Amino acid sequence: MIADAPPPLDPAALRDDFPILHARTPSGAPLVYLDNAATTQHPRQVIHAMVEVYERHYANVHRGIHWLSDQSTDLFEEARRKVCRFIHARDPEEIVFTRGTTESINLVARSWGDAFLAPGDEVLLTEAEHHSNIVPWQQLAARRGIVLRFLPLRDDGLLHLDALPSLLSQRTRLVALAATTNVLGTTQPLRTIIPAARAVGARVLIDAAQSVPHTVTDVQALDADFLAFSGHKMLGPSGVGVLYGKREILEEMPPFMGGGSMIRRVRLEAFEPADVPARFEAGTPPIVPAIGLGAAIDYLERVGLDAIAQHERLLLQRAHAVLGAIPGVRVLGPAPEHKGGIVSFVVERMHAHDVAHLLDRRGIAVRAGHHCAMPLHKRLGITASTRASFYLYNTLEEVEQLGRAVEEAQRLLRRK
Ligand code: ALA
Repeated sequence: MIADAPPPLDPAALRDDFPILHARTPSGAPLVYLDNAATTQHPRQVIHAMVEVYERHYANVHRGIHWLSDQSTDLFEEARRKVCRFIHARDPEEIVFTRGTTESINLVARSWGDAFLAPGDEVLLTEAEHHSNIVPWQQLAARRGIVLRFLPLRDDGLLHLDALPSLLSQRTRLVALAATTNVLGTTQPLRTIIPAARAVGARVLIDAAQSVPHTVTDVQALDADFLAFSGHKMLGPSGVGVLYGKREILEEMPPFMGGGSMIRRVRLEAFEPADVPARFEAGTPPIVPAIGLGAAIDYLERVGLDAIAQHERLLLQRAHAVLGAIPGVRVLGPAPEHKGGIVSFVVERMHAHDVAHLLDRRGIAVRAGHHCAMPLHKRLGITASTRASFYLYNTLEEVEQLGRAVEEAQRLLRRK
């Protein structure tokens, strides 16, 4: 055992906190939930925190001069402080609540991109990105005449870092990439890429939707300018996400959406924007979801991010071993040491949807298709894959069940 390893996590004990994990599926099989990269389940502690707000503290925030509004405002701003601490930001004012990762990235493209990028400027992405970190930049390219460049993938699924120097130049204004990719699960070498981007004066945006829930994030140590993630992939509710931005950069950026709460003053002819982060939070924000996200952070901190990361590593190693040993199954992407808890695979002569459908008959929930990453699948020479993704409540036995169900699906196909 490694001397300073965190105490091992006991998923069986944690599962008692998650009512939905005790569900029986229509086939009668117990639920094996392996679709955590799409969205995660909720412990009672998060559900109860939100019910408690609705039952005892709910009103609109930052508006009313009444005791309920004060209470909900305090809880909402406390959630912002929890997020700040969780990702080691300097200041809660660097935390903008959005609807999710997608909105956070669109906010940067619309606000920072429209204000500061000019025709010929370049944005560098990678071939492994989710659509939410491709399409907003394509839309920006159409509006502003910027040029998109892509760091290619090697055949083993790792980034072609040798190509980085030739893709970065004084024209590169932004490098935007996922910390952990949503299909291959690759943990990208941010500590190489971010300094290289800095060296040419580019800003850096990290899509951390698949990393913040699973491993310690320190935005100051990373020196990221922007970092985006979603509440619903980390035991919190859907409808809330976060954009972290360095304060001095957020302060230069114009508002993304106009409306109530984002202004200091409005006349009929013009408005003056509010300070950050209110400037980017027009309208009624996701009040209860943000408080639920705060409760999810409390839960994750109690379990310990290091213990979670170590547990997922065990599950991932086992999944690679189990699936990799099945003839006709090809596990995509690099070896487990380069990955978070995501394993995508293809089964010879079977469409990913059929695989997922047969797994569902055994109670196993996985995602199948292109996983919102069509360019990546094209690069891999396939149209679809099946993806199992893990979290703190999954067990080694569930990984074994996945392997047995894939073999059973193959046997069924052979019989046809
Ligand atoms: N981005 C989520 C996924 O990969 C929805 O499934």
